[in-house]
Amino acid sequence: MILSKWLATLLGGTLAAQGALAIDLTIDDEASLKSAAKTVASTMMDYYNARDSANIPGKMDGTWWEGGSMFMTLILYWWVTGDTQFNAAVQEGMYFQKGDDDFFPSNYSQYLGNDDQVFWGLAAITAAEFNYPELDGQPSWVSLAQGVFNTQYPRWDTSSCHGGMRWQIWPYQNGYLTKNAISNGGLFQLSARLALYTGNKTYAEWAERIWDWSATTPLLKQKNWNIADSTTCGTQCTDHGDFQWTYNYATYISGAAYMHNYTNGTETKWKEGVEGLYKTSQQFFPTSGGNLILSDITCEPLGNCDRNQITFKSYFTNWIGVMTTIVPGMYDTVFPQLKASAQAAAKQCSGGDSGVKCGIRWTKQAEWDKSSGLEQQMAVLGVLSANLVPFKNKAPFTADSGGTSKSNPNAGTNSTANKAPVLNTIGTGDKAGAGVLTFIFVTGWAVAVTWMIRGG
Ligand SMILES: *[C@@H]1O[C@H](CO)[C@@H](O)[C@H](O)[C@H]1NC(C)=O
Ligand SMILES: *[C@@H]1O[C@H](CO)[C@@H](O)[C@H](O)[C@H]1NC(C)=O
Ligand SMILES: *[C@@H]1O[C@H](CO)[C@@H](O)[C@H](O)[C@H]1NC(C)=O
Ligand SMILES: *[C@@H]1O[C@H](CO)[C@@H](O)[C@H](O)[C@H]1NC(C)=O
Ligand SMILES: *[C@@H]1O[C@H](CO)[C@@H](O)[C@H](O)[C@H]1NC(C)=O
Repeated sequence: MILSKWLATLLGGTLAAQGALAIDLTIDDEASLKSAAKTVASTMMDYYNARDSANIPGKMDGTWWEGGSMFMTLILYWWVTGDTQFNAAVQEGMYFQKGDDDFFPSNYSQYLGNDDQVFWGLAAITAAEFNYPELDGQPSWVSLAQGVFNTQYPRWDTSSCHGGMRWQIWPYQNGYLTKNAISNGGLFQLSARLALYTGNKTYAEWAERIWDWSATTPLLKQKNWNIADSTTCGTQCTDHGDFQWTYNYATYISGAAYMHNYTNGTETKWKEGVEGLYKTSQQFFPTSGGNLILSDITCEPLGNCDRNQITFKSYFTNWIGVMTTIVPGMYDTVFPQLKASAQAAAKQCSGGDSGVKCGIRWTKQAEWDKSSGLEQQMAVLGVLSANLVPFKNKAPFTADSGGTSKSNPNAGTNSTANKAPVLNTIGTGDKAGAGVLTFIFVTGWAVAVTWMIRGG
């Protein structure tokens, strides 16, 4: 009797301890989702607040672009939960890094890619679409998104491939000779969202131009809806770095969704794009997760995702979740997968002393993959917020439907951003912060070249 009571206590204690580890989540319960999201966001912000560069708002150690993408994630978090506790930090960081209203601040602009900059623009348009609080004396959110558009479209490069955005901006950068999916898909998405928000058809024309151009290259193969990560100017954009990434697909899906809505569904190409690309995105729901749990298959199974790649699922889930509000027919297709992914992601949050640090391999479910960091938190926050979108059940505001952020089509045009910079000595910290895709490019390129040599 005594022994079994002791045993029962021990077992009970173990079970209780296990219950405290990992995050509780009842997937169809709004309050449960909000509470899980709050736990995950708080841990993310603990990392943010503990960074070495804490005296520079919005600047993370060793990376600049992730500040923008994290704020983008936090803006959607605020929209779906109403939790305002991080708003001051988001506003402070967004405004501090705004540069000449174009998110191209001179401290970092020498080393950035178009993709790095566009993520800040996407954060700003997200803020505009959800009436995120603006501060007096600061440029409006939509104008900051317009500032990014205004500095990027003049970089459209017809000297090779008959068009396209280069990955990186300056000739001394490795990525200058590359055109990649996220830079083109990023500006495509930003343009489409500006078109819907402002109703200005110039943005829609650019969105269509970028989509149509992408479709002439391996970056967007409409024949089989495959998205190559990158291609090079030297081959007139005929070669392809074929690594597959969730965010490349989602950025084109999201942009096509906004264009579908902007055109009132009158142009079939956008809906076909949404559906076609979501179908090929099925590769990111491998059998190891029952074809329901999202995985960045190029690095997760190998356990070698870098910090950039660890964040990609955040964007995929955010963009796909919001997409269902403007292309309502997609809800039944995507939500079973977003729900299962959120459940698995919450189970993956059982690490560290706190017992709630998240890993990245959601397909492992309850078995923590022993990785942790701000990026892991961001990914899980993304999928939890996405699951709250249907509870909120509101499409993004536009200027005609209650959006209060004021358009300024000339924002960012005073910028010095398009003048070639004076080069400073580059420190290693800056190098590490430059470019979203350095790692991907180098390894992806090696693989592509190997493949081409073998194939040839
Ligand atoms: C630029 O760098 C300086 C020196 O480190 C720093 O004081 C300043 O806050 C930085 N500005 C931005 C926008 O990051
Ligand atoms: C979509 O429909 C609205 C309302 O009927 C109309 O004002 C708008 O011009 C249409 N948009 C396009 C791109 O045709
Ligand atoms: C566009 O989005 C609105 C929500 O703002 C939705 O009611 C409408 O059905 C969408 N239009 C199309 C063509 O899907
Ligand atoms: C539409 O956008 C273009 C490009 O930024 C701008 O030149 C034009 O003035 C805008 N039109 C309106 C009505 O805002
Ligand atoms: C450009 O700068 C001038 C002078 O500083 C200012 O008057 C003007 O409003 C600025 N334009 C924009 C679009 O920010």
